[in-house]
Amino acid sequence: MSKAISAISAAGIGLRNQHIDEILINKPDIPWLEILVDNHLAQGGLIPAQLDAISELYPLALHGVSLSLGSTSPLDMHYLQQIKNLAIRTNTVWYSEHLCFTSVNGHYSHDLLPIPYSQASLNHIVDRISQVQDFFGEQILIENVSSYMNFVDSTIPEVDFLCAVAEQADCWLLVDVNNIYVNQINHDLDAEHFIDSLPLNRIKEIHLAGFQEREDFLLDAHNHPVSKPVWQLYERLLQRKSEIPTLIEWDNDIPVLSVLLQEADKANQIRHNVEARE
Ligand SMILES: [Fe+2]
Repeated sequence: MSKAISAISAAGIGLRNQHIDEILINKPDIPWLEILVDNHLAQGGLIPAQLDAISELYPLALHGVSLSLGSTSPLDMHYLQQIKNLAIRTNTVWYSEHLCFTSVNGHYSHDLLPIPYSQASLNHIVDRISQVQDFFGEQILIENVSSYMNFVDSTIPEVDFLCAVAEQADCWLLVDVNNIYVNQINHDLDAEHFIDSLPLNRIKEIHLAGFQEREDFLLDAHNHPVSKPVWQLYERLLQRKSEIPTLIEWDNDIPVLSVLLQEADKANQIRHNVEARE
């Protein structure tokens, strides 16, 4: 997992099965792709020949949703070994996971469930991330998640917790700007303060996605274009540091490939505008 990131500062897209044939036939100019490892490891994912062909054409990042770093159950070393094998096979640039838990005692929620932001959970997740990094022999990326509830046990603001995780585990951050905005609306947080507090030397990747408006909250549904306030927060982050690889995530009601590429172009345009003003 060691390709230079300078080559992928432009915005990439999440690779979805609906687009694979078109990408392999037309070979569109996409700087990099992100694979959902859980889709690939499950039946019905990319067939190995497709994966090999894609990895020869594009730099690939691996993104996981099932490691359950925040759980108190032991880490699934078989799952991690599968990811390691996939990373080697695809010459992956990096592997990212979430600041959350998804399973307990073998029961899987299939949702990214938030953890309490307390000293005890900080110690726990730092230890778990360290275990994973020791296993891979390199740093991984940790992503902030959307949430729809707060824990009474939370004593640390989310952004401070995220910064402490990065520092103490010596890991990278994957900053999901949409998740920051969703949490601002759902929990009345200050998204601009969140963006301004992030440690720039730790950020390795940015996610952009679309939410769904519900009656009294925002759902991190990944089924819409990136919203205007999220683009504004993205620009604010790039004004602090513009050279951060960005990825467009779209997981539900997936449109034609050109729509994702237009979203990536929009991200690139914002970056160019920011750099032109510097
Ligand atoms: Fe994300």
